[in-house]
Parts: sequence; C-alpha cells; structure tokens
Amino acid sequence: MAVIETKGLTYTYPSGTKRALEDVSITIERGEFVVLTGPSGCGKTTLCRCFNGLVPHFYGGKLEGNVLVTGLNVHEHSIYELARHVGLVFQNPENQLFALSVEKDVAFGLENLGVPRDEMKKRVDWALQTTDIEDLRERAPHELSGGQQQRVAIASVLAMQPNVMVLDEPTSFLDPLGAQRIFEVINELNKNLGITVVLVEHRLDLAARYADHVIIMDEGRVMLDGKPREIFGLEKTRLMGIGIPKSTRLYQVLEKSGVHLSKVPITSEEATQILKEVLNRD
Ligand SMILES: Nc1ncnc2c1ncn2[C@@H]1O[C@H](COP(=O)(O)OP(=O)(O)O)[C@@H](O)[C@H]1O
Ligand SMILES: [Mg+2]
Repeated sequence: MAVIETKGLTYTYPSGTKRALEDVSITIERGEFVVLTGPSGCGKTTLCRCFNGLVPHFYGGKLEGNVLVTGLNVHEHSIYELARHVGLVFQNPENQLFALSVEKDVAFGLENLGVPRDEMKKRVDWALQTTDIEDLRERAPHELSGGQQQRVAIASVLAMQPNVMVLDEPTSFLDPLGAQRIFEVINELNKNLGITVVLVEHRLDLAARYADHVIIMDEGRVMLDGKPREIFGLEKTRLMGIGIPKSTRLYQVLEKSGVHLSKVPITSEEATQILKEVLNRD
C-alpha cells in the first residue's frame, strides 16, 4: 500500500522565478527505505516539505497536482494533522531543538498533541532508549555534539510515532563514522518498527546499502526511480554527476573491460565477494 503518492506535482515558491518541482509523480510503499538524492538545488528539500504540508501551507506559493500522504490529500489537511503521520528531521538539528533539556525537547511535540502525561513519559523514555541517548536526558541540547543533536532530533520525531520519517540530509554535519551510526539507528527503526523512511542523502557510499528504493532528481524533476542495483548500475546515473557507491563504479569499470559479473554490488562486502568470484574463474 502506498504511504506517499504524488501525481503531476508542480510547485513554485512565492518568490521563485522558476519551478522548484516539476511534474513529480512518485509512489512510496509502506515499509520502504527510500534514498532521495540529486545535485544541490534540485528540489529534494522542497519535495520533503510537501510530505508534511509545509509546502504549501507554510511556504505559500502555487502547488499543482496531487500529494497524498497516508491517503490524506495535503491540499485538504493542515500541517498539524499531517505531523501525526509524517515526522520531518531537518538538515540542521539546531533549528529543531530549542528546549532547555533533551527530555523536554523530545516531549514537546507530544505536549502539542495533547498526549496524556503517563503516555508521554512512556513515549519519551522509549524514544530516548531507541536512539541510545538516555544518558543525555537532562542535558541542554545546545551543549551537545552534532551527532548527539541529530539523535535528539530523531528521538523528538520518533516520540510522535509517525508512520513515515523523512530525514533531510540528517548527517550533513557528521564525519562518515558518525553518519554511519545514525543510518544504523534509522535502519533499525525501519526494519524493527516498520516505519517508512525517506532519507535525503548524497553520500551514497554510506546510505545505498540500506535503500530498497532510490529516487534521483535533477532540476525539480525525477530523473530515475527504482531499485538501487538497477539505478546505480546504469552508466547514465554516473554521467548525471551522482556519486554512485564505489563498489558499483568498480562493477561498471569491470563490465567495460569485458568482465561480466553476476550482480551489481552496492556495498564493499559485495564488491569483495564479486572480486573473489572473478579471481576464482581462472
Ligand atoms: N524558501 C524558499 N523560497 C524560494 N525559493 C526556494 C526556497 N527554498 C528553496 N528554494 C528554491 O527551490 C529550488 C529547490 O531547492 P531545494 O528544494 O532546497 O533543493 P535541494 O534540497 O535539492 O538542494 C532551488 O532553486 C531553491 O533556490
Ligand atoms: Mg536540501
């Protein structure tokens, strides 16, 4: 079943001279882990804003076509209603954290929803445990490291128990190891709780292994949409300037030299496996 569906979605910001999104038609199924990527300015953030109604309700502007989120048409439902279903983690966690303690930040959205005290306490404890930041409970968010703040931002959204989590470059301030840890947390939420994930990320070497659906955008349009192995294996993807995983690049180089492989590798483990297979052929 589709959790997010857009049809002919075209959008221009009030101050915009050109369309930020142009005829975007995509379907995201329940439980999928989607990686959304493409060059800077191609419309990734704008598309994420459509998923929770910030576009058009907060930003204004002209939205044509349809966006359905868990069956709700964003034209007809408020940001407040959509927030129950879709949690958005912004690129810069500082913009999302403002309370005096981590615990209060994580509880904030629940207070707004009018969740009863007992239930709120349970959900905050659970969100802190799940993101592995229970020990930071009393700390002030602005004192924390970038990675810790990212976890607090994820916990705040998680406490709302959304069906869909949309994470807009949530690790852009982290080193590869820190990013990897955050992706592991997101992956567990997806696999163990069945939360649908839309992750905007350009570091595909790190993120591709978790994806079961990849969408590549350029200049407001969807250029490629499908399974990771199909998309990354295409020469066209690399020519679009997308930093495909190094393992997949290796596959392309080998194919070009006439070495044919049984599958398109995405992770370094898969590349190693395939190289062993090639070496054993002689
Ligand atoms: N708040 C805004 N007002 C006007 N134009 C915007 C705003 N946010 C983004 N844009 C424009 O919309 C287009 C898509 O931007 P964005 O969605 O931020 O791309 P990405 O996230 O892929 O870098 C760009 O041309 C950008 O300048
Ligand atoms: Mg962006």
